[in-house]
Order: sequence, then C-alpha cells, then structure tokens
Amino acid sequence: MNELPIFQPFVSGSDLGAEVLAGLMSNPKTLPCKYLYDGVGSSLFEAITHLREYACSRGEKALLEAHRSQIMGAVGGAPEFVELGGGTGEKAFLLLSTATQTGIRYHNLDISETALDISANVIKSLDNVTFYGHAGEFFEGLPVALRNRRGPVTVLFLGSSIGNFTVSESNKFLTDLRSNLERGDFLLLGTDLEKPVDRLVMAYDDPQGVTSAFNKNLLARINYELSANFDLSKFAHEARWNQPDGCIEMHLRSLVDQAVRISRLKLICSFSEGETIRTERSHKYRGGIIGGWLSSAGWELSEQWIDQPSLFALNLACAA
Ligand code: AVI
Repeated sequence: MNELPIFQPFVSGSDLGAEVLAGLMSNPKTLPCKYLYDGVGSSLFEAITHLREYACSRGEKALLEAHRSQIMGAVGGAPEFVELGGGTGEKAFLLLSTATQTGIRYHNLDISETALDISANVIKSLDNVTFYGHAGEFFEGLPVALRNRRGPVTVLFLGSSIGNFTVSESNKFLTDLRSNLERGDFLLLGTDLEKPVDRLVMAYDDPQGVTSAFNKNLLARINYELSANFDLSKFAHEARWNQPDGCIEMHLRSLVDQAVRISRLKLICSFSEGETIRTERSHKYRGGIIGGWLSSAGWELSEQWIDQPSLFALNLACAA
C-alpha cells in the first residue's frame, strides 16, 4: 500500500477577484476561461462533450479506443500517469484499463474538486491503479505529483485543452512541462484540427443552448462568489471564428447599455449595447505543424493518429 494520501490539496494561485477585476478593466473586456469550470460549469461542459455538434470528444474517444493498446505498448510499462485537467477520469480509465502491469499511479490534476471526486470513483475499479487527486493549477500540482516518481512518467493532456492557450502560452506551457520531466518521459496530447468555419461555429453555439448556458454560468458564478448583479438575460452567448489567430472565440454580448455592480471588488462596470466580454479562445491546428511545434519545446513526436470524421488528432511524443 502507498502511504501517500489520496488527495493532496495545495494552495491554489487562482484568484477569481483579481483576475475578474483585471479582465473587466481591460479593453476589450475578457475573463479567463479557467473560471468557466465551477461545479455547474463542469457539469455543463460534460454535457457539451456529448453534443452531436461538438465532435472533439467523440473523435478523441474513438482514437483512444482504437489505439490504446498501441499507446500503452509505446510507453512501455511506465508506472506514473499524470493527467492535466483529467476531469471525471473517463479517458484515463479507457487507457489504463488496458494496462497489464501492477502498481500504476494515476494523478489527476484538475481545478474542479467535484470532478476529482467523480474520477476517484471511476479509477477505483481498476485494481492495479492507485488514484491521487490534486486540486488546483497544473504547475502547482505537477511537482507534487512527480515528487516520488518511480520510473517513466506519461503526461496526458487531452481534449485539446492546449487550444485554450494562446500560441505563445502553449509554447511556454510545452517547454515548462518538458523542464519538469526527464528524458524518455511521454506526452499524449489531444489537438483539435482545422475544419470548416460553419462546423466550428455550430460546435460552440449548439442549437440546444448548452454552450450558451456554460458561457453564461461564468456570470452566475461571479454573481455568487463576488456578490455581483449581472442580469443573465441581458447578455447573449456568441461564438465567432478569429481567422488571423486560427481560433474560435466565445463572447458574452451585452444586449443593452448597462452598469453591473460587483460588490466584493467595489466595482461598477459599464457595458455599452453590443460590447462583448471574451471568455474563451480555442485554437484549431493543422496536423502537419504539430511535430515541429512539439520539437521546438523539447518533445519528439513519435505517433500521430487522426480521426477523420471529427478531424481530431492524438499525438504521442517523447521528452527529447
Ligand atoms: C476544454 N476546452 C478544450 C473546450 C474547447 O473546446 O475549447 C471548452 C469548450 N468551450 C466550449 N465548448 C467547449
């Protein structure tokens, strides 16, 4: 038995108040997408992953199912698995349920404690895997997860979460990740690929309104946690393609001229009719550039699998 506790909480560097203040004072207004994931937001995101229009999760699952034995073979019995933003743990379960070796440790680093609770239960049914949950931001949890490493590490960064970083943030992220690891460790990276704009807009503005509810929940969260009075009916969800930056953006558009009070920040924030708050950017990639991109951050791409119906890629890289 392992003596480490199942949950290893640490002080999170996230500061909703400071980041909301900075984002709403900036021009144009923005809010960090990581705050979309409170308990309600995480459940809404889970619902998004099952939408017909949001093919990303379906495509990635198909790839994991088709290639999991090959992936587990390629990482050659690595005992440590660290998932960044592992959510409810289903993808890790898919992969780890094919593992034949004993003594695997799976660390889920996720901002949502609700998701960590669920993933602990999902992974529990695998006798050869011990679960560790780390609530908070990736680079705070990673050194804790790696502290007692006993062999090669496989990092899972799936769902094209990397797409929510800007290009320079993602380069820095991959470089920082590499510097926390050792030569011969692995990275399994999910990346959503470029596709026709109308498909992308539908994926981020589904007719059922689930993505709209997910986006507007950010305002509900700010109301609740920072004593604000956003009227959700006075904002509309919007998805738009940003061609120069190669990303789809989510915005909240103010339907009227209005002033919103955020008591805990001692802030009155004015919006003019039509003004938006950008809440997320999701970059889409060309499959052919991923190898070069990884290599400039110290990773060597060894395999890339593409799901054609969804245009989603799974990339297996080795720390060079
Ligand atoms: C988590 N992340 C990769 C999702 C994405 O596609 O950018 C979040 C999302 N936003 C709207 N739908 C899904």
